[in-house]
Amino acid sequence: MSDPIQQAAGLLVQSRRTIALTGAGISVESGIPPFRGKGGLWEKIDPMKYAHIDAYERDPAEVWRVLFLGLKDTLAMAQPNHGHHGLYQLEILGVLSTVITQNIDGLHQQAGSRDVIEFHGTFAKQRCMTCRQPIPTSQVDLSVLPPRCTCGGLLRPDVVMFGEPIDMSLLQRSQMLASSCDVILVVGTSATVEPAAYLPIIAKRSGAAVVEINPEKTPLTRHTSDVTLLGEAGTTMRQLVAAIKKERLRYDSR
Ligand code: OAD
Repeated sequence: MSDPIQQAAGLLVQSRRTIALTGAGISVESGIPPFRGKGGLWEKIDPMKYAHIDAYERDPAEVWRVLFLGLKDTLAMAQPNHGHHGLYQLEILGVLSTVITQNIDGLHQQAGSRDVIEFHGTFAKQRCMTCRQPIPTSQVDLSVLPPRCTCGGLLRPDVVMFGEPIDMSLLQRSQMLASSCDVILVVGTSATVEPAAYLPIIAKRSGAAVVEINPEKTPLTRHTSDVTLLGEAGTTMRQLVAAIKKERLRYDSR
């Protein structure tokens, strides 16, 4: 049995269409804590109390104080790491077409990735709950909470909170990509939150290979993943990109 990095590189080089699904784990090395597991945000904050749309509608100022102010500061400091850069390099190499991310941090775009589906929205924007006008988060006055639009309506982050559906067009495009790819690269997600967690299953059922990068096993590891690269995203992506470049030379010279 060849080394898993080699196996993954072989699959990716031969694939005609590869997509990636990423989660909080890819941004851990950028200083953004994940949601679940050790040091995870949901260990300290109850998501049903502070990340649910009902909670926001009930007491938006409290949700800003407990969750969003800290998140805003953390995201403002974060820079892409080797995991994000590696996915951009795969795009440049013509190996990867689209990144579907559950993250709201914008780090894939900052790293250069051009086709990024922000499945759970973005924290870079707020939108008015009355007139729907968007506004960059960096321009929002947070001296008085909750923040308000110029029309007087309540602003909210342009993210998917618990209790809210995924944007239908993003969901449909993601499902279409999952059902038509040859390989799906699943990086840094616990694969526990639907409907994102179902995308690798759709891909697998449609005949794609599933390559997973995660330091921990997930519900996908045993029955869904064809190759599991057990490790952190940054180090593993660097090894994978190097192996793909080598494999590419071998494959092209046949
Ligand atoms: P989770 O916090 O559930 O999972 C993070 C995953 O990253 C875990 O499987 C970790 O083992 C893995 N991990 C940790 N460090 C890593 C590293 N350095 N490199 C690679 N992987 C690492 O995050 P998500 O799966 O993204 O939704 O969570 C999905 C959704 O649940 C989020 O988008 C958010 C949350 O509730 C909403 O807020 C709607």
